[in-house]
Amino acid sequence: MKVFENKADLIFEINSLKQQSKAIGFVPTMGALHKGHISLITISKNNNDITIASIFVNPTQFNDKKDYQRYPRILSDDIKMLEKAGCDIVFTPTEEEMYPEADNRQFDFGNLDKVMEGKFRPGHFRGVALIVSKLFDIVTPDKAYFGEKDFQQVTVLKHLVTIMRYPIEIISCPIIREHDGLAMSSRNMLLTKEEREHVSLISKTLFEAREIAKKLNVEETKNWVIQQINSDSLLKVEYFEIVNDINLESIHDWSQNENKVGCIAVHVGNIRLIDNVRFY
Ligand code: PAF
Repeated sequence: MKVFENKADLIFEINSLKQQSKAIGFVPTMGALHKGHISLITISKNNNDITIASIFVNPTQFNDKKDYQRYPRILSDDIKMLEKAGCDIVFTPTEEEMYPEADNRQFDFGNLDKVMEGKFRPGHFRGVALIVSKLFDIVTPDKAYFGEKDFQQVTVLKHLVTIMRYPIEIISCPIIREHDGLAMSSRNMLLTKEEREHVSLISKTLFEAREIAKKLNVEETKNWVIQQINSDSLLKVEYFEIVNDINLESIHDWSQNENKVGCIAVHVGNIRLIDNVRFY
């Protein structure tokens, strides 16, 4: 596996791969890799000639400075994991390399960045869009792979590709869960042993909610989920919304003929976790 810190060197390598008509799959990450990331590498490897990953903890997408400082950074372990997974190239730029000067671009995502994560983490999706567009300009992949745990992020990035006219297919990949159902996330490694035991209630409640939804209306189901999780003294729900999976508008009635996804954000101690589940 080749490791590049410098974008000029990476672009040189990619130009040579393009001359050989290699299909490029791209997995952007912020490191602290887990099996969820590795599943993206595996899917990319099965569908492309070359798989490129990036590791960069992007400062512009953190609206909370402490969250940025706390974010786990374990670069040498990450590189070993990618190598073992058969990744071909990894790009590990510095902040200077990605933001040599301030980038003041704004993006119009309509409703997509106003709700849920967008409401509680102002500026977050602008930061995600900034870094992903910079990475796309460098890597110019055919396909880019993102985990569905960050459901709203995938929706926003599909829109980014449309407004920026990138000839890149965004592939949304299934959530990978721990054996007790917890959605894999780099932030899980920051949980204390006690917190870790409590957070399985999040996914357990989401899965139960799909059954409860057969008896309760949308509003009642939402309230039930919030109450269940808040009944645990360590957990505090920030939001739980049931939305249309394309435009992220709230669902008010189960009879609405749209694909429905329930998205949640929960605080546990200093950590904030997100998860989601489909309703049928
Ligand atoms: O999902 C992430 O890890 C990040 O938001 C991403 C897409 C790598 C951009 O920094």
